Amino acid sequence: MCGITGYIGYRDAYPIIINGLQRLEYRGYDSAGIVLFDGNQINLTKTKGKVSDLITKIATNSFDKGTVGIGHTRWATHGVPNDVNSHPHLSQSGNLVIVHNGIIENYDTIKKELIKRGYTFKSDTDTEVLVNLIEEIQKKYDVKLGKAVQIALNQVIGAYAIAVFDKNKPDEIVVARLGSPLAIGIGKDKKEYFVASDASPFIEYTKDAIYLEDEEMAIIRVGREVRIRKIKDDSLVDADVQELQLSLEQIEKGGFEHFMLKEIHEQPHAISDTYRGRLLREEGIIKMSGVEDNMKKLLNADRFIIVACGTSWHAGLVAEYLIEDLARIPVEVEYASEFRYRNPIITEKDVVIAISQSGETADTLAAIKLAKSKGALVFGVCNVVGSSIARETDTGAYTHAGPEIGVASTKAFTTQITVLTLMALRLARAKGTMTSSDYRYHLQELELIPKKVEELLKIDDHVKYISNIYKDATNFLYLGRGYNFPVALEGALKLKEISYIHAEGYPAAEMKHGPIALIDENMPIVVIATNKGHYEKVVSNIQEIKSRKGQIIAVVTEGDVTVKEMADHVIEIPETIEAFTPLLTTIPLQLLSYHIAVMRGCNVDQPRNLAKSVTVE
Ligand code: G6P
Repeated sequence: MCGITGYIGYRDAYPIIINGLQRLEYRGYDSAGIVLFDGNQINLTKTKGKVSDLITKIATNSFDKGTVGIGHTRWATHGVPNDVNSHPHLSQSGNLVIVHNGIIENYDTIKKELIKRGYTFKSDTDTEVLVNLIEEIQKKYDVKLGKAVQIALNQVIGAYAIAVFDKNKPDEIVVARLGSPLAIGIGKDKKEYFVASDASPFIEYTKDAIYLEDEEMAIIRVGREVRIRKIKDDSLVDADVQELQLSLEQIEKGGFEHFMLKEIHEQPHAISDTYRGRLLREEGIIKMSGVEDNMKKLLNADRFIIVACGTSWHAGLVAEYLIEDLARIPVEVEYASEFRYRNPIITEKDVVIAISQSGETADTLAAIKLAKSKGALVFGVCNVVGSSIARETDTGAYTHAGPEIGVASTKAFTTQITVLTLMALRLARAKGTMTSSDYRYHLQELELIPKKVEELLKIDDHVKYISNIYKDATNFLYLGRGYNFPVALEGALKLKEISYIHAEGYPAAEMKHGPIALIDENMPIVVIATNKGHYEKVVSNIQEIKSRKGQIIAVVTEGDVTVKEMADHVIEIPETIEAFTPLLTTIPLQLLSYHIAVMRGCNVDQPRNLAKSVTVE
């Protein structure tokens, strides 16, 4: 994680970098820093805390001058979040300055070597080691900055996106990437360049961008084309300039108090954007090029293995139910972090589906590489276009949810489920596990989901009322069965992520094997009890809770009578096919966690210790 940004050109760099850091805060926000070159000297300001704290600090020291600079917002890996460990880091001489996103794994060995050569270190970070290694190489071999960076990177093990600036060469910034994203924005007539972890910091200045590939570096100099090289062998690479599709409006809050709330409300649109052009109801077909092009391999697969982390893993669990139920293809769902390290059995007859909002999650990326090395076809389900995972996978489908900025994932989850639903239906049809009339009925119902989500969002005040009653609870239990078991997990994850209330998601029937011991009159229990999914069984589970005096918040299908009589509160969702209920039952749980977190005074969009994009193991 961590966000890096930089500017070199003719404008004041300070507002561009600060604005950019604010847009990148979703990547980490435990400390922030900026360095600007004012024509004579490097002025560095950094602090523990948010970018707003950095702005306050700069207001006192006035270090805001210069047309070149780099900035950083941090999610700590090496060294606790404090002023000293914050980036940028200066080299020993004070000539070089660096910002870094990632981890240098062999930093300790290099550090000991540098200490022997007389270097001293102010921080506990791996990054300060890297900048001093670059300086040492510059001195030892008498080479320019770009060359020194290249030699240094060939000595380090780990992951990085870096931007380095040399006070003695103030017309250039050197950047490099391995495992962490880095985009370069190209200004008009090459009079200015931007650097950032994603394109959001420079979207209002240019639509032309280059995304560095792994193991590439670039020397960015005003007035000249960007020169990209392979870090390993110094070979020149042709720059692939892409036109950005992102708009400024998409990355702003648009009148909502928080990005999370905006993104919850964007779901009707996001879901229809996901199936637009793919779900052709009138023709009665689903068209997904990634599926069509690989149909034979998909249908003949021994099994699908889904790899993902966090919320995306929950979408993977929903997909397991969908694909097994509708298309009758065996599915396993794995945490990418476990999968990659447990010597899994993968063959050429397996299909691996990697799900990731950001497309940058390190563990998911590593799981993909492993699967590819064993010959499996890897299908990616990503939101961020052009992300590492999107590029690394053999084929796939984008979710088209638009930028998700709130750290707690919402629209990414429902659009991932939408893509996976389309995939399951298309495979079911191709495999003949679904009749044509059933298929058509499913398409028709799926097309109605955005409208139903829109309807459902009107219950916001009711959910707010419930949130107020339970905002001070210390524990929550979420129960669901079948398709809604993963939704229970996701509901619990949302609550703990942003409100810091301990919450557990459980399959409703498993409650009696443990969590039931926790139930007393202080325990709120969210039960998903839709009318088709093992309804009677869930009703029995509700009775078991009731007799132990637990407080029941039930998510039911509209018109429900039985559960209504037993539950303390009910939230109704519109009627739909059971397989599509996760797209609806998720919505009130997102709102519940949102309102509780707001009422508890938590920072909803930037919950403590978390980051949106986890590019470290
Ligand atoms: C982080 C985020 C989660 C996300 C998970 C996986 O933990 O905070 O919201 O679900 O990473 O991220 P991905 O981008 O791979 O979906």
